[in-house]
Amino acid sequence: MTDTAVAPLISARGIGKTFATVDVLRDVDLDLLPGEIHALLGENGAGKSTFAKILAGVHRPTRGSIALNGKPVEVTSPVVAQKLGITLIHQEPISFPDLSVAENLVIGAAEDGWFSRVPWAEMTREANRLMDLLGVRIDVTRPMRGLSIADQQMVEIARALASNSRLIIMDEPTAPLTPREVETLFAIARKLRDEGRTIVFISHRLEEVRALCDRVTIFRDGNKIATDTIGNLSDADIIRLMIGRPVKEYMHKTGATIGEVALEVEGLTLPGVFSDISFSVRKGEIVGLGGLVGAGRTDVAKAIFGVTPAASGTVSINGKRVSITDPSQAIALGLAFVPEDRAVAGIFRTLSVEQNISVAVPKQLAPGGFIRRAVERAMGEDAVRKLSIRLASLRQPIGELSGGNQQKAILARWLLTDPGVLILDEPTRGIDIGVKAEFYSIIGELAAQGRAILLISSELPELLALCDRVLVMSEGRLTADIPRSRATQEAVMRAAVPRRSTTEGAAA
Ligand SMILES: Nc1ncnc2c1ncn2[C@@H]1O[C@H](COP(=O)(O)OP(=O)(O)OP(=O)(O)O)[C@@H](O)[C@H]1O
Ligand SMILES: [Mg+2]
Repeated sequence: MTDTAVAPLISARGIGKTFATVDVLRDVDLDLLPGEIHALLGENGAGKSTFAKILAGVHRPTRGSIALNGKPVEVTSPVVAQKLGITLIHQEPISFPDLSVAENLVIGAAEDGWFSRVPWAEMTREANRLMDLLGVRIDVTRPMRGLSIADQQMVEIARALASNSRLIIMDEPTAPLTPREVETLFAIARKLRDEGRTIVFISHRLEEVRALCDRVTIFRDGNKIATDTIGNLSDADIIRLMIGRPVKEYMHKTGATIGEVALEVEGLTLPGVFSDISFSVRKGEIVGLGGLVGAGRTDVAKAIFGVTPAASGTVSINGKRVSITDPSQAIALGLAFVPEDRAVAGIFRTLSVEQNISVAVPKQLAPGGFIRRAVERAMGEDAVRKLSIRLASLRQPIGELSGGNQQKAILARWLLTDPGVLILDEPTRGIDIGVKAEFYSIIGELAAQGRAILLISSELPELLALCDRVLVMSEGRLTADIPRSRATQEAVMRAAVPRRSTTEGAAA
């Protein structure tokens, strides 16, 4: 497939975007062809989501023009985009939580006053038909609130189908999905492509991009660096184009002495969620917790941290039995928990980046009750340097940062608490390849300093590279405890896959 063979569906020319005084996109030319799946790649903050939002009418470009089937168009709002057949499935889903799934599916038409006259029975039938088409089983009369992120995403995709979109942009859609859900999503994307629609796919996972996409465009620092057929580029080419320098290989931590047991849980049980969980993590040790999405790993972490305490079982810190019924007790005992979901991670979207980072250490920040700005600033600057957070200013609201950079800021916050036991839940989700390597080094250093680390991750290579030991959960139970020397992809997967076949939603 070449640009000259097919007339493009979308031609973007000279697209630029300036927020305040910062150029986040510069002079981007890009053609999207009918019947292609086109990947957008780039480091955190490179401008992928911003470009997607410009196509979808969420942002107006500061400069440049867009043509649809050769005719200039002004995509002035998401409603206009919808009418032009352009749908964006957001990085953070934004549906209407109190409306039912079926209602969410027809919401695109609400602006026309059509919504009030929707025949409900017909709507439910249509919604069910779309769900069948997608091969997902969701009760369409249920409110969106309470659906898993994967299911919410499926509803967004169904909405794109319902509105007969010609261009469907998926911004990091696979991050919260299980391998099987990813397969379903890919099958749908391929089907849509074969019908002649255009899919834009944004992801940090190169193997997914290879499996799915026809062409890729690489952004770096707001510039388009290259567009090519995926087959023409090796992984090394792509990484070089994205980052402009080679990525350092992560080496397993060296020199960490494994010490006393820092965290021990015994028989931890929350009926219907997880049962009889026992393990320990020693000082200087990185213990992985693998398993499929929904296996109950996050629930165990939340129980230890006192977010949703277990019904029975015990937790000990440094050999002492403790009773943690509230996160503030956990923090006082030297625990830190970096949750997977940014939305619940206590991100204060309208507060500045530096406020979001320093909020974890009120005593250092405000001895005697008065906030010391200089301390706050120094903490922020230190975090930006250590984790290479990309931002215009530390005073900027954190909500303006790219997804991956928000994640880094939250991690920085927890590192400031100087925890003895650090629980990380999918910490590198949405983080680009370059930063991942840096981030792994940081985890290694933290362990070498004698901290005990429990790392929840769905990425097998990450678990195998980083951990001294890998625990595996399946359907709310611990199914394996594998030492580093015997930890292989197969060993972890075998323990992660549910034994019975009727397992749908067992740990939900
Ligand atoms: N509303 C906004 N106000 C100010 N700056 C913004 C705004 N939205 C995005 N930016 C900035 O634009 C740059 C590009 O952000 P964008 O979200 O497009 O990155 P991305 O490539 O999608 O990154 P990620 O992989 O982390 O999702 C970032 O530096 C970000 O801070
Ligand atoms: Mg993004």
